[in-house]
Amino acid sequence: MDKITAAITCVGGYVPEYRLTNKILESMIDTNDEWIKSRTGISERRILKGEGLATSDMGAEAVKNILQKKGILPEEIDCVICATVTPDMLFPSTANIICHKAGIKNAFSFDINAACSGFLFTLTTAASLIESGRYKKVIVVGADKMSSIVDYTDRTTCILFGDGAGAVLLEVSADENGIKDSLLKTDGSGKPFLHMKAGGSLKPSTVETVLAKEHYIYQEGQTVFKFAVKGMADVGFELLQRNNLTGDDIAWLVPHQANLRIIEATANRMGLPKEKVMINIEKYGNTTAATIPLCLWDWEDKLKKGDNLIFAAFGGGFTWGATLVKWAY
Ligand code: UT7
Repeated sequence: MDKITAAITCVGGYVPEYRLTNKILESMIDTNDEWIKSRTGISERRILKGEGLATSDMGAEAVKNILQKKGILPEEIDCVICATVTPDMLFPSTANIICHKAGIKNAFSFDINAACSGFLFTLTTAASLIESGRYKKVIVVGADKMSSIVDYTDRTTCILFGDGAGAVLLEVSADENGIKDSLLKTDGSGKPFLHMKAGGSLKPSTVETVLAKEHYIYQEGQTVFKFAVKGMADVGFELLQRNNLTGDDIAWLVPHQANLRIIEATANRMGLPKEKVMINIEKYGNTTAATIPLCLWDWEDKLKKGDNLIFAAFGGGFTWGATLVKWAY
């Protein structure tokens, strides 16, 4: 039997309307537009406002965007996997809730938590379902309402994050295009530098944990920065080498959008000029699991069949990785 290749056949996305600009942040904390732009590349981020709205609402919009663009019925979807660190609630999974909101009734669904590398880990998992031959249509969602876990009095983290959702449809490839290779890594010794202190089984929520602000992102930025620059650049370079490719063979680098300086270091190591790098951090900030699919959503009409793309990410865990995709449409 010929090997089945999984291909991305459609991209969907959703970002909330409200724009939290650097100017507005200047009125909230001791910061300034120049510092934020020069240290991170971010000008504004989208924030999901409104009572009762959560990660699943953005994820469901991204999924509905795919169904509408492809003209397929919700009943045709076999599986939905959602990458997120901001689930609506601990259980049921956000993917379950997304299916309900998007009218998907014949699928099984679950979440994957791999922080900023969540989309890549989920994409590889979903591709294996297609490659197994058992499933025909699998949707991967990367969605995060980071504003729900950001401390807006902490100037070192609140400038970084935004809300959004992106999704891709995976189907059996009609040719050799599709998801070709992945190199994914984790190192749990990174936990102290990027985590949420309370709200899990280690430290369940109490009045004290709330008062101590332990339900927000805790990040030691400089340490994470150093690991991210090395991790993302190394893994991207290694993936090129083991596929006998150089930067010249790559049409686009699609990097996780955490910091413009990390993106530039990764592109340099892979020998890629800025024109070949998808960068939208200036308008969305770091949307965690949504950054890579939101890049694909923004650039979809510039992609050509057969283009070689490298997706690369680094995040909490630590988790990191890179995926080689031959664009299929
Ligand atoms: O996606 C998940 C993975 N996360 C990442 O990849 C994030 C990685 N880290 C980073 O992107 C960067 O470390 C940050 C953007 C978070 C910080 O940039 P940095 O160049 O590492 O700055 P720093 O932490 O070394 O701080 C430099 C100075 C400090 O002041 P002093 O001690 O030199 O007087 C900070 O207090 O900048 C100060 N500072 C600020 N100033 C104005 C920190 N935050 C701000 C701020 N506005 N918002």
